[in-house]
Amino acid sequence: MVFSRLFGKSVPPVAPPPREDAISEPNVTFDPRDEGVESPTDETWLARAHRVIVGGASTGSKRADRIYGAVADGPTHFIRASGCRVETTEGDQLVDCTMALGSVAIGYAEPQLTRAVIEALANGHVSGLSAAHEVEVAERLCGVIPCAEKVQFLKTGAEAMSAAIRIARAYTGRDTVIGCGYFGWHDWSADSDGVPDATQQQFRRVPFDDVNALERAVSDAGGGVAAIAIEPVIERLPSKEWIAAARRLCDAQGAVLIFDEIKTGFRLATGGYQQYAEIAPDLAAFGKAMANGYPLSAVCGHAALMDAAEKTWISSTLASEAGALAAAAAVLAWHERADLCAQLWTTGKDMREAVGAAIRASGVSGVTVDGIDPMWLLRFEDPERETAFLEAAVRNGVLFKRGAYNFAAIAHDEDALREIEAGASAAFVELRERDER
Ligand SMILES: Cc1ncc(COP(=O)(O)O)c(C=O)c1O
Repeated sequence: MVFSRLFGKSVPPVAPPPREDAISEPNVTFDPRDEGVESPTDETWLARAHRVIVGGASTGSKRADRIYGAVADGPTHFIRASGCRVETTEGDQLVDCTMALGSVAIGYAEPQLTRAVIEALANGHVSGLSAAHEVEVAERLCGVIPCAEKVQFLKTGAEAMSAAIRIARAYTGRDTVIGCGYFGWHDWSADSDGVPDATQQQFRRVPFDDVNALERAVSDAGGGVAAIAIEPVIERLPSKEWIAAARRLCDAQGAVLIFDEIKTGFRLATGGYQQYAEIAPDLAAFGKAMANGYPLSAVCGHAALMDAAEKTWISSTLASEAGALAAAAAVLAWHERADLCAQLWTTGKDMREAVGAAIRASGVSGVTVDGIDPMWLLRFEDPERETAFLEAAVRNGVLFKRGAYNFAAIAHDEDALREIEAGASAAFVELRERDER
């Protein structure tokens, strides 16, 4: 094994380069002769990752303990993904029910979309000028998102939500934000080490779907509310009363209503929960499925509000790079051609029913299927049994999400649904047998 020497450290070679055909012809099918990629050192990929990457994975939800639970003994790295299938570094083929934390609603390496991205990259995806794609995608987003009159692109969901909050504060001249949901890791909504107390005090967290708590939080803020920020679906749809109360309280206070549509956008409906429920916020953040997993997010809303962004400074060097924008353009074209979201509801229902049937057939207890059809979850009473199930499911060819959503994708076809049911059944039977030992 050849190690280059760099400042006295031995540096193992990186993972193999992409196959040449991945460039000329997008990777659409698995080659059964592929055998996985052994780590070129004596260590596993996970051990190598733990040595040099915080927590072993830069995306928190992809850390081994987040995938499996405290005791982790399943695959953690992949070399190829296509459709709804993932090939692990060990050469195992898994049907993926997590779809990259809901960022992929069409499928991995979808050929048409991949070609659009490759073409944008080949044409030069950045320059000293803005990419024309930026204008085109912004125009199209304004056509499909009810609240959108103006758009600003960023790269991550956390960035888009931070931008929405900054715009609301700049517009209202107030500081307090009332919020419900997960908005990413940025300071304004985090109560964790490293976030100043003063910042935390400007954010009041309220429980989901609780009108009284929302009214109390607004009244406690004494007229200082800049925004109410809501993740509109948390394991279930909210009551119409709660959303209407948020709208009413914002209107009465002159505060800004923000929907975080990072998970719900391009999934519940193309234009997100606001289109699905027919109630528009003032600002909204989109990301994830908007570019089918390519790094792109957007804050959007009424023009008068969005123009307040010019009173402050929100900017990122690569916000308008054309590769991710080309992916978003391809996603938008897909939504124009077909009712992709209707298909996600149907496919999600089929996935849930397949897993529900597996639970019933195996006779296992202490687990239920919850959530809504396009984003559903397995709820275990005992976390240790959840870990045992997840590891068994992976051994039987299916990757489920621990303690959070599984997401439907167009790529979950009938074969995949059959494999999900068979994999879940085998894993639940293993779990029942383990319970009986
Ligand atoms: C509702 C919601 N908002 C914001 C975020 C943060 O997005 P990102 O991880 O792209 O920063 C997430 C991520 O899961 C999310 O689900």
